[in-house]
Amino acid sequence: MTIDEQAPAESVEQLRERIAADSLTSRRDYLRLAVTVSGGLAVGTAAVASGLFHRHGDGTAAPKLVAERLEPGQSVAFSYPGEEDRAVALRMADGTLAAYSSVCTHLACAVLWRAGRGEQGELYCPCHEGVFDPRTGQVTAGPPPRPLPRVLLEERGDGIWAVGTLRSGQERA
Ligand code: FES
Repeated sequence: MTIDEQAPAESVEQLRERIAADSLTSRRDYLRLAVTVSGGLAVGTAAVASGLFHRHGDGTAAPKLVAERLEPGQSVAFSYPGEEDRAVALRMADGTLAAYSSVCTHLACAVLWRAGRGEQGELYCPCHEGVFDPRTGQVTAGPPPRPLPRVLLEERGDGIWAVGTLRSGQERA
């Protein structure tokens, strides 16, 4: 016995109309979702292309005061080029200043400055024992696959300023 035989003809017709209306709604909802997602992707792509978001190495960030001074062995955490871009500036025992992204290139844990390690100190990631050379950002131990991206510094009369960034492994031009 089929539905057609069981239910009155009017009910079957109403059921068919409801199913048709539901499938139309689903298609309409699907199209609306597809248009919304595509629009969001297009807006995001345009924002990235227009440089709305700064990235390490893009050289477009404005200078930012990092610290008034740093003594040998001292470090300071700051954000650069964006507020979400964690970085660390340090002064080695011989007076050399350096700064890097403090986001580990392995799995993005926070990289710390350990002044008492080695001759000049080291940049250390406690998550998996990653170690970076404070002079170059190069990996000296552990699993990180790439050097830390460098933040360019300028020491001026009024303090130490971040003035730009390089990509991981990129040397100054
Ligand atoms: S996250 Fe830094 S060594 Fe793994």
